[in-house]
Amino acid sequence: MGRKRKLEHFAEMKGFPHAFEPKLEEVFRAEYKMKGKWRDDFFKNDHPLVLELACGKGEYSVGLATIFPEKNFIGIDIKGARMWKGAKDSLEKGMKNIAFLRTRIEFIESCFGENEVDEIWITFPDPQPKDKQEKKRLTGPLFIERYKKFLKKDGCIHLKTDNNFFYSYTMEQVEEKGYELEESTDDLYGGYIDTMDERMQEILRIKTHYEKIFSEKGHKIHYLRFKP
Ligand SMILES: C[S@@+](CC[C@H](N)C(=O)[O-])C[C@H]1O[C@@H](n2cnc3c(N)ncnc32)[C@H](O)[C@@H]1O
Repeated sequence: MGRKRKLEHFAEMKGFPHAFEPKLEEVFRAEYKMKGKWRDDFFKNDHPLVLELACGKGEYSVGLATIFPEKNFIGIDIKGARMWKGAKDSLEKGMKNIAFLRTRIEFIESCFGENEVDEIWITFPDPQPKDKQEKKRLTGPLFIERYKKFLKKDGCIHLKTDNNFFYSYTMEQVEEKGYELEESTDDLYGGYIDTMDERMQEILRIKTHYEKIFSEKGHKIHYLRFKP
């Protein structure tokens, strides 16, 4: 995307009623004004709240929000120009159960309060394969401890990835830390998905921008769901 286009998207996002872009000082060692208040102040209901982390263009958030009008969704990513796509699509469709939050996931505890979140989706995150990058892995212990501060006790984390290393790493974390594994497959579309109920199939057939790219390259898609 050209620089001019990006700037246009950034400017347009600022006017979207469902796009939140906290300044650094609002989330760094601070409590963002929406923390603990997403339902009351924005969604105006008491429906479950589901987050999509590293949402990119937000296809999962928009797809899930379409399937589940009785739940609220927030797509989170640091790249505003990407998130613009999901924000624009959902606005044009008049969807009221979705929002977008532009921030680093490192600051996520500043944005959500205890027990505020029911479920988390992580879709095709950067695998950060080098040892020194472990701190940046979105299913690493540092991040999971952050999520536990706002995820409900029974809340689960879904991961979709094409990356073998990241899938194995997350499975190891599940085992090492004693998280409750609910579902796992290293080849979702190789027959596994057909064994799932229809609703789950519909959910898991939502494809993000990166999933389409990786699938076209012939990569197998891995899926796992666990309770931390
Ligand atoms: C490979 S892309 C996947 C995007 C989307 N989920 C998809 O499947 O098309 C990874 C995304 O993670 C975002 N990201 C990586 N690290 C992040 C962080 N620490 N905080 C917020 N976003 C991050 C990037 O901006 C990028 O959009």
